[in-house]
Amino acid sequence: MSDDAVPRPALDPEHFVSLPRPLRVEVVDETTSTNALVVARAKAGEPEGLVIVTEHQTAGRGRLDRVWEAPRGASLTFSILLRPDVAPASWTWIPLLTGYALQAALADRVPEVTLKWPNDVMVGEHKLAGILVERVETDLGPAAVIGIGLNVNQTRDELPTEIATSLRIELEETFDRNPLLAQVLGSFRALLPLLDQPEVLRAAYTDVCATVGRTVDVHLPGGETVRGEVLDLDQYGALVLSTGDGTFTAHAGDVVHVRAAE
Ligand code: BTN
Repeated sequence: MSDDAVPRPALDPEHFVSLPRPLRVEVVDETTSTNALVVARAKAGEPEGLVIVTEHQTAGRGRLDRVWEAPRGASLTFSILLRPDVAPASWTWIPLLTGYALQAALADRVPEVTLKWPNDVMVGEHKLAGILVERVETDLGPAAVIGIGLNVNQTRDELPTEIATSLRIELEETFDRNPLLAQVLGSFRALLPLLDQPEVLRAAYTDVCATVGRTVDVHLPGGETVRGEVLDLDQYGALVLSTGDGTFTAHAGDVVHVRAAE
């Protein structure tokens, strides 16, 4: 089948009417960024549970000030509004929990799906999905806007980098994004209570995280790079490395997997 002939059903709100509370999905045809839209709604007093999904973003945001690009109708780009009622220390688990929920939702279809710390969803060394969590101060208290970009039906030519992949590339079939989004949101909702049980979440996350046990380079936000073997995650979800000189704890950064542990 030629690329032009691949069916790409449109997003349809009817598929999301029976999601568990408080999730409620709005479909918009086009926006700059679903995160920007949900941030604005959070500031205007929107209760938690709003999900905005779009066919196309014109200014999608990635982590570390990068852009996130996908052709119209090919992927899932959406954002979820949470108003977490958890201890401030547990906020750091929100992006990791989101990655874990995505991994859990996809594992039936893609058994080799893993996580690269902190929250990239990977197949081998290829990135299938990215997550951007933004904290926003509102009159109702702090809110978390959780943005997810999941590569679904993109062909190799439609992906922005060599290291990206899509479900279509991995599984050689195209997907109706509607049931897929419902499944991802259902997984997220079911696993949300783990935010109150960081030790359980830590164990579950570590199990599916390909970074633990690897030698990695961590590119820190300040520009420095630290190389070490990943020993563990700490109680806040930070990465604990053995560097040769001792241990180093990375709270944020970009990880490059260098090699598997010997
Ligand atoms: C990353 O850099 O890996 C994070 C990418 C997050 C992209 C998603 S797409 C939906 C939501 N809206 C945005 O502008 N960004 C996130």
